[in-house]
Amino acid sequence: MQFKRSLFIFSLIALALGAPKRGLNARHKVKEVVRAPRGWVQGPPAPADHIIKLRIALPQSNFQELERHVYEVSDPSHARYGQHLSKEEVEELVAPHPESVDAVDAWLSSFGLGESECERSPAKDWITLRVPVKLAEEMLDTKYHVWLHEASGDTAVRTLTYGIPEDVFDHVELVQPTTMFARMKSHKTTFRFSPIQPSDKLSPAEGTSGGAPLVGPGGTQVDASCNQEITLSCLQQIYNSVGVTGSNKDGNQIAVTAYLGQFANLADLKLFYEDQNPAAVNSSFKVVSVNGGQNSQNVSQAGVEANLDTQFAFGLTFPTPATFFTTAGMPPFISDLKTPTDTNEPYTTWLDFVLAQKTLPQTISTSYGDDEQTVPDSFALRACQGFAQLGARGVSLLFSSGDGGVGDNDANPATQICISNDGKNKTEFLPTFPATCPFVTGVGGTIGFPETAVDFSAGGFSNLFSRPSYQDAAVEGFLRQLPKGTFSGLFNPNGRGFPDVAAQGANFLIFFEGDSGLVDGTSCAAPTFAAFVSLLNDVRLEHGKPPLGFLNPFLYSTGFAGLNDITAGNNPGCGTEGFNATKGWDPVTGLGTPNFGILKELVLKV
Ligand SMILES: *[C@@H]1O[C@H](CO)[C@@H](O)[C@H](O)[C@H]1NC(C)=O
Ligand SMILES: *[C@@H]1O[C@H](CO)[C@@H](O)[C@H](O)[C@H]1NC(C)=O
Ligand SMILES: *[C@@H]1O[C@H](CO)[C@@H](O)[C@H](O)[C@H]1NC(C)=O
Ligand SMILES: *[C@@H]1O[C@H](CO)[C@@H](O)[C@H](O)[C@H]1NC(C)=O
Repeated sequence: MQFKRSLFIFSLIALALGAPKRGLNARHKVKEVVRAPRGWVQGPPAPADHIIKLRIALPQSNFQELERHVYEVSDPSHARYGQHLSKEEVEELVAPHPESVDAVDAWLSSFGLGESECERSPAKDWITLRVPVKLAEEMLDTKYHVWLHEASGDTAVRTLTYGIPEDVFDHVELVQPTTMFARMKSHKTTFRFSPIQPSDKLSPAEGTSGGAPLVGPGGTQVDASCNQEITLSCLQQIYNSVGVTGSNKDGNQIAVTAYLGQFANLADLKLFYEDQNPAAVNSSFKVVSVNGGQNSQNVSQAGVEANLDTQFAFGLTFPTPATFFTTAGMPPFISDLKTPTDTNEPYTTWLDFVLAQKTLPQTISTSYGDDEQTVPDSFALRACQGFAQLGARGVSLLFSSGDGGVGDNDANPATQICISNDGKNKTEFLPTFPATCPFVTGVGGTIGFPETAVDFSAGGFSNLFSRPSYQDAAVEGFLRQLPKGTFSGLFNPNGRGFPDVAAQGANFLIFFEGDSGLVDGTSCAAPTFAAFVSLLNDVRLEHGKPPLGFLNPFLYSTGFAGLNDITAGNNPGCGTEGFNATKGWDPVTGLGTPNFGILKELVLKV
């Protein structure tokens, strides 16, 4: 049967081959050239009939205008603060020019590819179509190979360069999969089963009998056990929200995203709730599968990352309606010709899906990312513009900052070497995408109480995105106190600084495969910070105010007064001690961790 299907595809190609004047004026201009990131080696040519799902981005006609709107509606000092845009308003601003649509359609139809082969994004700024490698190679004047990522065994059908015919060149911003080698990873350094079983453990109510309470700045008292394992109760104590719950009556929603086939197990969630939030024990969340994302409830196939994100984000905000987005993408390349290779660009797959929804969760947490230099610039810019669209619509996006300190997210910070992928093999710090996108809020990690920066907390400066003005004063303040010449040449002082904020990032007590265990990583921090943002949205919604939306202009102008400034610890990597957490913003813990009691007053003043 599968053989028949490929015969069918053959006949389609044969039809296409008959079309005259293929590729219009077939003179191609090079669109992009990349170097394969370290660790990838080129294998054999990709089979000519292997099907790839090609995604073509058309230039957004008026992104600058969209950007102006995002900043105006997110800036508390602007008259339009909180006046978020509708789906239709955003689409109008990012829709490609009709001339681009026509030019690209003509180019595709010269290969026999018509409307029925094309899927279009809501704003028509992306076209997706399935084509055999042979045809893609002709369209893009390139040669695909099967590439191997040696350390993981991952394979992908990719190329180092591609072109677009001159007469459509300006109407195509990028095409993938071509040059995208990023391996999106979950930001979770370790998972270990807990030596303490829940039955032996103190219940939250008994927590204080576990030793003298920990005392923090301002006299805050926290259970002694919170220095060994972080529970919902610990986070409520540390972040000044004891007794605060979410609401299912004000229209508020929270979501976490999952990639890489991760899904969250409901039986584990129930065990977690029995242990840490008994009131939530019968609650669940909505699973939304994007592009065939999985949701097997087989307990031995659950993901640590997905369980962590759902248990903490939803546990802190219960009974707020909760959504789990599971996005498929990046299946391994199987050289059987029939399995289409997905595009390895799950952010845009997810963006297409959510941007098509009328109503969106106001707060969304993501704990996945990769070294910025493994993502082609064109793709990173375009995905970031997609995040800006969500910001314009009033969505707060939280991304974990990564777990490699100032360095490589792939390597142990203690031993990592950090090498640029620009052909020069320079030693340099390696920032994390998407946390470096200026339209998202990057979340770094802390440990213990009183809190210090956790050493793996990724932070630094983007080599791609320049510094947005909302963080000028904060970042310049940090740079001024750095001793002259510090890490000279290792980072870009004019780049967007990240993370923006932080939260606890180690020793999270989760349930996985029926047992409790501890997790470390900025993956813990992102859903935690997101939960507090969601609780703040409850406060705003209950007072008839719009949600916070894109957070950074608020955080850097007034919100920082409701954050605990973290001033101890550092984030080693690349053979250095990394940056120090300092007074004010720093590229380890950003502006700091939430103090809910103060933030809830602040969000009512804007
Ligand atoms: C959960 O459901 C069970 C069975 O229906 C019920 O006995 C229990 O009271 C419920 N718990 C809560 C906290 O709602
Ligand atoms: C659950 O997953 C495990 C591991 O993948 C597999 O061996 C087992 O057969 C699955 N069980 C069911 C009922 O599908
Ligand atoms: C950079 O490193 C790569 C991989 O080790 C090597 O092939 C290349 O020649 C090096 N380039 C320079 C300029 O040293
Ligand atoms: C971090 O702080 C330590 C101790 O004060 C100091 O020796 C070191 O130079 C600082 N590092 C940076 C990068 O500022």
